Amino acid sequence: MSRFAYDETALIHGGISTDARTGAVNIPIYQTSTYQQDGLGKMRGYEYSRTGNPTREALEALIAELEGGYAGFAFGSGMAAITAVLSLLHSGDRVLISSNVYGGTFRVLDKVFNHFGIVYTIADTAHPDVFASQITPDIRAVMLESPANPLMTVTDIRAIAEISHAHGLLVIVDNTFMTPYLQKPLALGADIVVHSATKYLGGHSDVVAGLAVVSTKELAEQIAFIQNSTGGVLGPFDSFLLIRGIKTLAVRMDRHVENAQKAAEYLKNHTAVKTVYYPGLPDSPDYAVNQKQAKNGGVMISFELHEDYDIRVFFEALKLVMLAESLGGVESLVCHPATMTHASIPAEIRKQVGITDGLIRLSVGIENIADILADLEQAIAQAKTGK
Ligand SMILES: Cc1ncc(COP(=O)(O)O)c(C=O)c1O
Repeated sequence: MSRFAYDETALIHGGISTDARTGAVNIPIYQTSTYQQDGLGKMRGYEYSRTGNPTREALEALIAELEGGYAGFAFGSGMAAITAVLSLLHSGDRVLISSNVYGGTFRVLDKVFNHFGIVYTIADTAHPDVFASQITPDIRAVMLESPANPLMTVTDIRAIAEISHAHGLLVIVDNTFMTPYLQKPLALGADIVVHSATKYLGGHSDVVAGLAVVSTKELAEQIAFIQNSTGGVLGPFDSFLLIRGIKTLAVRMDRHVENAQKAAEYLKNHTAVKTVYYPGLPDSPDYAVNQKQAKNGGVMISFELHEDYDIRVFFEALKLVMLAESLGGVESLVCHPATMTHASIPAEIRKQVGITDGLIRLSVGIENIADILADLEQAIAQAKTGK
């Protein structure tokens, strides 16, 4: 539980927010690998920075407080956080993953964890009844994203957690797209939250980082052991950058969401646009469930242009909005999921789950919305083929 009534305050003062020794209002970058010991077995709280570092610890306490969890853990990337959490599984275990989970999550299960006898099934977490019918005795965990990348499909986290817990499954939610400012999966019944903190939490496209937050002491002990044993920890400088980014999360997200709402409405009303996926649009099939569990529809939008528009021309014509992997920075970015973020998912599975070759994903930045829309407009106009 957070000690603060409002997230805006917790983002700035949560966790360990000042340096106890000096009173510094920012946690210093403790750029050290090791710590002097006063005698055998006489440590001053730290022994080696893989095991513990004060800057990383401040970040870990902050994310735990923001997500309302028991403990937080910081890793060198979102994938390192996900890998650490999946390392709770044993040979012979199966994990259910939501159908349009991040491509890297799919890949680590499909190509790495399979070496250790841990298998996965793609599950329909968006439809709790179908999901319930997919549970078999070898399943130990479910890993989901809501909204899921890149079709922004929303999962009723509380419903899935209830069904999963009735079968003794661990519920893991990747909260990257929402952040704890917009959605708190642990309060909805999840056991573990993971983040690519590279995205909104960092917020400036200048750090690659991952976070995990667990709900119980038992899980905290297990993840702490895995974190220290496998070693994918976040360094002190990157921990500092993340703390700095998180302080402004609320103001950034408010502007991001305001812009995203306008961009989604613009795209929905555009004659060149065939489909828009954004759970913040009241006529989206995902709107009602999303409203129930999140503050708003978030920032990510996917859309398809009609067949007489050439998306290659569209991407190349953009002047302000940049074609790049990633999302969540202050600058607007677009990507082509089929060849970029979701390229590691085989074409037939992409087709099955609806990730078409024409799908465009937009991470709406905090520039003036008029500039973003003008750039989209001129690029769409150039992309018209006349066919
Ligand atoms: C939803 C989601 N989860 C996890 C990841 C992986 O995070 P990282 O790139 O920080 O390893 C990403 C990266 O794009 C993502 O979008």
